[in-house]
Amino acid sequence: MIIRRGRKEDIKHFVEIYQDAYEDLEEYAYTTRREIKNYYRWLMNRDPEGIFFAELSEPVGVIACDSNWFSPFEMKKVGEIHELAVKREFWGKGIGSKLLEKGIEYLREKKKDFAELWVGERNERAKKFYEKHGFREKGRFGKWIRMFRKI
Ligand SMILES: CC(C)(COP(=O)(O)OP(=O)(O)OC[C@H]1O[C@@H](n2cnc3c(N)ncnc32)[C@H](O)[C@@H]1OP(=O)(O)O)[C@@H](O)C(=O)NCCC(=O)NCCS
Repeated sequence: MIIRRGRKEDIKHFVEIYQDAYEDLEEYAYTTRREIKNYYRWLMNRDPEGIFFAELSEPVGVIACDSNWFSPFEMKKVGEIHELAVKREFWGKGIGSKLLEKGIEYLREKKKDFAELWVGERNERAKKFYEKHGFREKGRFGKWIRMFRKI
């Protein structure tokens, strides 16, 4: 497996991975191709260097980080992780972990001291995954849980 930086042309891969990963988590996800494409464009605009794809013979996972984010919750140097998704058939093989490590390394390079993300309150798998990677719950907003860790 390789991890490589995302490009504008990866929009098709992003839609494919995202739709697959969120198949039964739709309450926390965009559902139409149009929304998902706009989301990718938004992520690219936020931080064009912060997107990474995990690739086997094709891209199977993605992380989108944001080193330009301003967290209204902290007076610290916080990098945001907007998105992490792996195609279902590749879950449990360590691909999500590799992508998360890459994202954290990137935010460290950008001199961030903390990482923040938001996860759906009933997304048990992702919550457990992030806890295993050192994230802790640090607040809630509606159906979203805010998670935070030092990096
Ligand atoms: C959350 C998500 C990104 C995790 O990706 P993943 O590739 O399955 O992650 P990993 O394989 O690194 O780790 C997941 C589990 O597999 C286990 N695992 C890791 N490597 C493994 C291996 N080589 N063999 C078997 N199991 C392994 C891990 O121990 C972990 O176990 P856990 O269930 O106790 O946490 C993925 O489930 C996903 O895309 N979910 C839908 C989208 C989503 O919810 N994203 C987060 C939104 S904030």
